[in-house]
Order: sequence, then C-alpha cells, then structure tokens
Amino acid sequence: MGRRPLVAANWKLNGSIGLCKQYAEKLSNAPQIDCWVFPSAVHVSTLAKMFKESAANVRVGVQNIYTEPTGAFTGENSAELARDVGATTAIVGHSERRIHFMESSQGVAHKTAQALDAELTPIICVGEQLDDRDEGQAEEVVEEQLEAVNSHCSTAVWQHVTVAYEPVWAIGSGIAATPEQAQEMHNRIRVMIKNWNEPASKAIRLLYGGSVNSRNAGELISQPDIDGFLVGGASLDIDSFGDIVEQARIGDAL
Ligand code: 13P
Repeated sequence: MGRRPLVAANWKLNGSIGLCKQYAEKLSNAPQIDCWVFPSAVHVSTLAKMFKESAANVRVGVQNIYTEPTGAFTGENSAELARDVGATTAIVGHSERRIHFMESSQGVAHKTAQALDAELTPIICVGEQLDDRDEGQAEEVVEEQLEAVNSHCSTAVWQHVTVAYEPVWAIGSGIAATPEQAQEMHNRIRVMIKNWNEPASKAIRLLYGGSVNSRNAGELISQPDIDGFLVGGASLDIDSFGDIVEQARIGDAL
C-alpha cells in the first residue's frame, strides 16, 4: 500500500540532555523509515538543534499544545511556540491528557486545528479504557474521539494527520494488544476514515501504541493496517528504541 513506516518516541515526563544526545547519535545515519521524537517541551529546542543536520525523516515534536495560539495562559505552550523552536509535529489527545487533565474530544479537535494552523503534523491519539472494551464499546469510544475531529476540522483533515490507536489498558501495563486486536481496531479506524475521506483513508498512517517492545513489534507491524508505533517506556532506552525501529524497517521490507 506504500505507506512508509513511522516509529515515534513519546518520552512523557522523562528524558534528559543525555538522552537527547543518544538519540541524535542513533538517528544521525538516516533511518530508512520515519522517526519522530517527542521529548518534554523543555528539551524540544535542544533536540531540534541536535537534529538540524539530520535527514528530513527525523523530526522533533511536542507532546501537547494549548487550544489557543498566544495570550495570557501562564504555563501553557502553543503550536506556534513549538514551531518557533523547531518542532514540526505534535501529539494531541494522548489518553494521559484526556484522563489526568480532563481533555475532551472537542478540546482535542481544537488542538488538532491549532497544530495544522501552525504547520505541525498532529498525531491524534485515540483509544478505549478496559471497561469500554469489556462492555463491547471500544469501537464507539474510538469513533466518538475521531468524529469530534472530523466535525470540527472538516473531512480534509485526514490528509494531514496521523492517528495513534493506544488502548488505555495496554499503556505502561506490559500487556500489549494482540496483533489481532490491534489490527481489528486499525481496520475499523481506516473504515471510519474511508467514510469521511476515501483517498485519505488509503494514505493515512495508523500507529499502534501500548507496551510496544522489540519482542512484539515485528508481529504487530506485519498487520496490514498497522503502519508504525508510538512508543512510551521502551523509547527511554536508546537500544530498545533502535530495535523497534529496525523491526519496523524489516517489516516494511518483507
Ligand atoms: P508504553 O509504551 O509505555 O506502554 O506507552 C505507550 C504510550 O502511551 C505512548 O504514547
């Protein structure tokens, strides 16, 4: 289908200048797939400078942006400010933001629009909680999250974004979705997007996130609708992250 794999590292509230240096070294030989790195906002500028000489397929992004571009919002960071210090991508709607910071799907839709206005490529995170899955509501939850973006931003939005399916129960638990579970939801997501924008549904990259490691990455990436990963814990170890990138590269070459 010709979708280039993308492996993204979400450091969450972790990282250091030392980890920035390790990434800069590891990714200096252009990996044959796309690698986007999301350090804490305070490290974005440092990492972006280190990546300056890197190939265009290596990008730095922010883990969150505010719903407004500028103004009296002490402590917030906007898409415009992120762009100003070298970010070219932004995560929006991570479940940790939705759960701990009460972000609504409407708020996530506004952030998606903000990111696109500032020419940052958004990775829109979606995913159900364990109760939703147990109650057979997983698809409905994910559809509501995507529908909010679709109605706020228009159907053209799907040409310009990446979606990460991260089931909340798989994040940081050590229990990844099975390849079958992940493929099933990725396929559902692609079909949802197809109903809004058919050409975009073929090109859009759908990432899986939730306890990805070098042992499960190979089988996950071999699924037809899984185009890469959003990696949390394993991205804090440069060798583990490198192994996952390698699995995605091999999977693409098969
Ligand atoms: P883990 O890889 O630690 O499960 O985290 C996944 C995640 O939340 C990435 O955004």
